[in-house]
Order: sequence, then C-alpha cells, then structure tokens
Amino acid sequence: MSNPPTTTQQAAEPAIRVQDLAKSYKELHVLRGVSFEVARGGIFALLGSNGAGKTTVVRILATLLKADAGTARVHGFDVATRPADVRESISLTGQFAAVDEILSGRENLILVARLRHLPEPGKIADGLLRRFSLTEAGGRRVATYSGGMRRRLDIAMSMIGNPPVIFLDEPTTGLDPQARIEVWQAVKELAGGGTTVLLTTQYLEEAEQLADRIAILHEGRIIVDGTLAELRRLLPPAQVEYVEKQPSLEDVFFAVVGRTGPDGSAHDLLTTSNEQ
Ligand SMILES: Nc1ncnc2c1ncn2[C@@H]1O[C@H](COP(=O)(O)OP(=O)(O)OP(=O)(O)O)[C@@H](O)[C@H]1O
Ligand SMILES: [Mg+2]
Repeated sequence: MSNPPTTTQQAAEPAIRVQDLAKSYKELHVLRGVSFEVARGGIFALLGSNGAGKTTVVRILATLLKADAGTARVHGFDVATRPADVRESISLTGQFAAVDEILSGRENLILVARLRHLPEPGKIADGLLRRFSLTEAGGRRVATYSGGMRRRLDIAMSMIGNPPVIFLDEPTTGLDPQARIEVWQAVKELAGGGTTVLLTTQYLEEAEQLADRIAILHEGRIIVDGTLAELRRLLPPAQVEYVEKQPSLEDVFFAVVGRTGPDGSAHDLLTTSNEQ
C-alpha cells in the first residue's frame, strides 16, 4: 500500500475523523454538526435518504467543498489545511460513473495510470481488468458495457495508485440486482486489500452486506452509528413481529403439514392435493 503513515500520530489515527462538521447553502442547513470516525481498513456506510447530505459530506472529505465549521481529517491530514496531502491519499468515485464511453475499458485504465505518472500503465490496466472480471470486455468500447460493468470499471479506475482511502458515492444506485452483487464483490475486494472504504447508500441491504460500521445521516446529524449488530439491538425484538411479509414456501409447508390440528385436517389437505 502506498502513502504509509509517516508519523506515529498518523499511525494511531483513524483513517477518517469528522468532528462537528457544518455546511449550509444559504438558508438550507444541510450538515448541522456531523461527527464520526472510520477505522483503517474498514468499510463504513453512510446511509441517508435523498438530500440528507451524503454527497456533501463526501465532497468535503475529498476537499472539493469547504465546510462552514468543524474539522475533518483524512489519512491523518486536515482537509482544510492539508488539501493536497488529502488528495494524494484518496480517490473518489462519484455518484455518476466517470468513465469515457469512446475509449475501451483498458484504455480508460491506462489513461488514469498515465495521469498518475505510474510506470507500466498497461500492466496495471491488465491486472485490474483481471481483478474485476473485465478481461474479456477490456478491449471493447465502454459504450457497449452494462451498468454493472461500467461501475466496476469506475471502481477499478479509483484503485489505480492504491490510495489508502476510497470514497464511493452511491456505487450501486440504478443497478439491477446482479450488477449490484458484482459491485459489492468489487468493494469487498478493495477492503480485503486493506483499503479504507467510505460509501454512501440509500439501500439498507447494501450497508448490511458490506459495511462493518453504519451511520445514518438524518436532518443534518448522525442519528445512529454502530455495527449492524448494535443497530439491530436498537429495535426491540417484539417489533419484528409486526413487519408484514409474504409467507415463504416453508411457512406454507408448516402451516399445512407440520401444524395439523387434533383432527389432522391440514394433513388431509396436502394428501388430497397430491393425489389429484
Ligand atoms: N451547490 C448547492 N447549492 C444549493 N443547495 C445544494 C447544493 N448542493 C447540494 N444542495 C442541497 O443540499 C442538500 C443535500 O444534498 P446532497 O447532495 O449532499 O444529498 P445526498 O444525501 O447526497 O442526496 P442523494 O441521495 O439524492 O444523492 C440537498 O437538499 C441539496 O439540494
Ligand atoms: Mg448524493
């Protein structure tokens, strides 16, 4: 991994530390004191509905936007006073895929590697294509890729140069379930390699699948922050019984076979339908 911590202070710090962040657009107070920490090598999911301020947080952490108040440190660097160092330590995959449609997947990767002045860009591109199961499609124009392939390419591009911290803003919005699973795989791959991932999402299931820590941003503040198990404990178990759900095949089976009344009527029902 590049950009190793250079001081003991950095080594002891979490990958991301956000304290009392505030941001308003005129009268609109989007962030009203947001605080959270992301451990090194962890996957942190920032959940929130449309307009909650997720992209605003990401843009501040990526030094694209200045906060009105509060502090944020990324990889040991303050975003306000050390923006260049922060940019060296991160990559940002925006809410909308930033791949070039005219170029092939391989060419996109080579382009980014060249921009980052890395040696052997072709080798880097081929390695990433392999890692994200894009080797076969690598020579084709991105215009012919599916949404999931584009997203995977986008994430692969963000990995070039091995930044220690990666921001993924809604990596799977608009993708079908299969493509979503492919992107999840790519994100797990990232974290498996030791990269710290902060992702934003509106999908609870996504946070559940990927994140080892989840925070919910609501009305300008983090209202919940913890592991999935901790979040689950916030709900009393009794409440689960009130959730409406379609009966599963298993429920139906046990209703008909396993829970027969004293007269055995349910069993008869099954036998009758089998004999027809
Ligand atoms: N440049 C801007 N000028 C004015 N208002 C803005 C600006 N950027 C964002 N906003 C507003 O700030 C609020 C938070 O926006 P943000 O994009 O951070 O939300 P989000 O949680 O990422 O939403 P989504 O899930 O739709 O992506 C929204 O109400 C948005 O309209
Ligand atoms: Mg957003």
